[in-house]
Amino acid sequence: RTGARVQRLALARFTTLGVGGEAEVWVVTNHEQLAEAMEEPYRILGGGSNLVISDQGVPERVIRLSGPLAERDLTPDPDLSDPDRIVTGWVGGGVPLPGLIRALQKLGYSNLEGTVGIPAQVGGAVWMNAGTRYGEMFDGLHTLEIATPAGLRVVTPDDLRWGYRDSGIPRNHIVTRVRLKLQKRTPEEVLAKMTLADTARKGQPKMKTPGCAFKNPGGVGAGRLIDEAGLKGTRVGNALIAPEHANFIVNLGGATAADVHALLDLIRQRVGVPLELEYELWP
Ligand code: FAD
Ligand code: EPU
Repeated sequence: RTGARVQRLALARFTTLGVGGEAEVWVVTNHEQLAEAMEEPYRILGGGSNLVISDQGVPERVIRLSGPLAERDLTPDPDLSDPDRIVTGWVGGGVPLPGLIRALQKLGYSNLEGTVGIPAQVGGAVWMNAGTRYGEMFDGLHTLEIATPAGLRVVTPDDLRWGYRDSGIPRNHIVTRVRLKLQKRTPEEVLAKMTLADTARKGQPKMKTPGCAFKNPGGVGAGRLIDEAGLKGTRVGNALIAPEHANFIVNLGGATAADVHALLDLIRQRVGVPLELEYELWP
């Protein structure tokens, strides 16, 4: 009715792990199409960089943000900006984060450079407050527009209970667009901080993966705990606990979701501390 593009597709191609069966994919380009897609049970897919999707796929509609919902307006809002502090126009939830971070660096806009190297979309990165020890998404958010089953909401970070890898936004509320709050620096200064954050990533595996499997439990990191349990290099089917970093599971080619689940279960059994999953398991 509203012109959303609907197709049955294998989801593996939309994920960085490269695993996942079929679902009905709804590509929406405006709020009207999004509202129609949200009329039946749905899931929202971002960059697919934190997902382990079942080989059977999912029964719900899978929504992807495209067109104007994947565009960015970085022009400073004249009413809210001054020479040091920039508030941008709207940045769509479907915008790829890496390109945004590069564009901000070129403009000399600081606050989000600590998230360099995170292969997410803006909406997914905001939803889980993705970050590194050099910074996180909520360092640079001014306003968020969120589509909920009860309609559109516009909120500020103060309205949310956000924290480490958590925005406080309920599951399946969709981050449609955000406005960024940035500080004016020189492009060189922004680049210097990006280089630090990039360097911290050197030890991470280069293969297909959904990033870190578990959140850091505080104190000692999950990677070190899994490493100390002697699990680096453990393989189930075609999934492997990366020899480079034990909190990464990689797809050696042809891995299944069941292979990854088996490794997650093994880690939980063998590490003495309760670990909270960072991945999203679909379903
Ligand atoms: P997806 O994986 O598509 O989805 C993840 C969750 O977000 C799902 O629940 C989904 O429904 C929800 N979601 C997606 N889009 C929206 C939206 N518009 N509105 C509301 N909810 C939405 N993470 C870090 O925090 N720090 C890192 O340093 C880091 N490094 C990584 C390195 C690699 C190589 C990889 C593969 C991943 C890494 N990750 C890291 C994990 C991942 O990039 C983050 O979790 C990211 O936030 C996921 O965003 P996404 O858009 O890919 O979301
Ligand atoms: N370590 C080990 N063995 C391992 C892995 C790590 O001993 O197998 C040790 C390292 O030697 C280091 C410490 O653990 O002393 C911390 O490791 P690292 O610097 O790699 O950081 P991390 O805490 O494991 C976090 C984030 C990453 C982010 C990096 C860089 C979490 C769960 N992980 O990793 O985020 O990229 O810092 O800032 O918070 C993600 O969330 O998906 C992710 C990749």
